[in-house]
Amino acid sequence: EQGEEPTGILLPLDIYQPERRNSTGLDLTNENTIRDLKAALEKPVKLPNKGDIKVLNPANKDDVLGEISYTTKENVDKAIADSISGFEEWSKTPVAERANILEKAADLLDADILRLMGILVREAGKTYANAVAEVREAVDFLRYYSVQIRREQHEDGDKPLGPVVCISPWNFPLAIFLGQISAALAVGNSVLAKPAEETSLIAWEAINALHEAGMPKKVVQLVLGAGEVGGQLVADKRVRGVLFTGSTEVARIIQKQLSTRLNPDGAPVPLIAETGGQNALIVDSSALAEQVVIDVLSSAFDSAGQRCSALRILALQEDSADRVLRMIKGAMEQLRTGNPSLLETDVGPVISEEARDNILKHIEDMRAAGYNVFQTEPQDECDKGTFVPPTIIEIDDIHALKREVFGPVLHVIRYKRNELDKLMEDINNTGYALTFGIHSRIEQSIAAVTERSHAGNVYVNRNIVGAIVGVQPFGGHGLSGTGPKAGGPLYLRRLLATTSPLPRD
Ligand code: SER
Repeated sequence: EQGEEPTGILLPLDIYQPERRNSTGLDLTNENTIRDLKAALEKPVKLPNKGDIKVLNPANKDDVLGEISYTTKENVDKAIADSISGFEEWSKTPVAERANILEKAADLLDADILRLMGILVREAGKTYANAVAEVREAVDFLRYYSVQIRREQHEDGDKPLGPVVCISPWNFPLAIFLGQISAALAVGNSVLAKPAEETSLIAWEAINALHEAGMPKKVVQLVLGAGEVGGQLVADKRVRGVLFTGSTEVARIIQKQLSTRLNPDGAPVPLIAETGGQNALIVDSSALAEQVVIDVLSSAFDSAGQRCSALRILALQEDSADRVLRMIKGAMEQLRTGNPSLLETDVGPVISEEARDNILKHIEDMRAAGYNVFQTEPQDECDKGTFVPPTIIEIDDIHALKREVFGPVLHVIRYKRNELDKLMEDINNTGYALTFGIHSRIEQSIAAVTERSHAGNVYVNRNIVGAIVGVQPFGGHGLSGTGPKAGGPLYLRRLLATTSPLPRD
């Protein structure tokens, strides 16, 4: 452990870069900080341009943040052309200068945390705690990849790919967005950044920070719009790599499109895809129930369940299932589902009407199929936004789940001690392999299930969300993605041409 910061936040050790410190963020127990945060929320946000696309607050339909326009087809085309000249310049820029700029951008974001949090709360529906974590993670990614590039000096024969496209999701609109971009830029690629259309404002702020830090405009460009803009970018043969985080379905479409061409080095166009999960947590009867409750609530309902890492399937050993489930439901009733601009809110909105309707449909379908549904009460203000209160659905078989439900819905199954093998088989057979966890106080049981899990990130006796850059490199395989793991030592290698030397680590 690295010791305590003045704010009281204990930072875990970065196992790959012990010389680097993760960002400390903010202390939300400090009254002055909260006062400053509230003031930041009141401030009008800056807009990238003018147009007729409304930027909405998912917690409150009366709060329109502004109106913007998406990038036109012609301007996307021009951005790709500019990205080629951007690449010419950037790929020749010395490693130290590239790293300096990324680190300067990290410092700028760190210094602007209150204002950025204000945008994250209003545009993405993040709670304060989630908004702090989001800025910290973005800053950590920028610093992590700069330290790595300095260390490895990707200069001796390494060749960047060229212009690459980064397509990122609304659920981590700053952290994943900048994680992808900073990695691609660190090794000398130019970047066309296409954020999820729901979170264009925070993306624009991120790109501004990179430009302000000294990144030439043509090296990293923001392209705003919905799926068709991403489609145009991916289809363009001047694009030499794609980083995508989003649904498995869209990842497949991108992969198919990229498979129709090769890069100039004769290799397939690299795709790094991070997609969904059908993530499970096994709780045996030896587990410490109080800790299970805390970890289940944060894994399933934090971020309103809108994390690819979130807990979807809780498997309780029958002997203690009633007691543990009663405790979980009791604790769920204490969670406040409401507007995240209030500090006391635990669960904010889901991102859009479409998302809410999709989640509610799943709940209703399961109810209609005869499964037992338990749902908590939202606050009155929830009428103004798109909320789904934390929900538990008791199922009898993992096969009852046909798709990933991206919201605060936890499925609970019970298993008998002699059914553990079958349970692991069912979990692995979902085809997803992102996060997985076990709560147990029996070492042999922990060893047995963790060995059998296919998941990219396996957690023991803790929650299964909130991977920290450099501490828990994050990513899965199978239906959950291509790897390599973000915030880990192998990520940058995929962003180089195949003529580069083999990995050294
Ligand atoms: N990296 C996030 C987590 O670990 C999910 O994207 O929760």
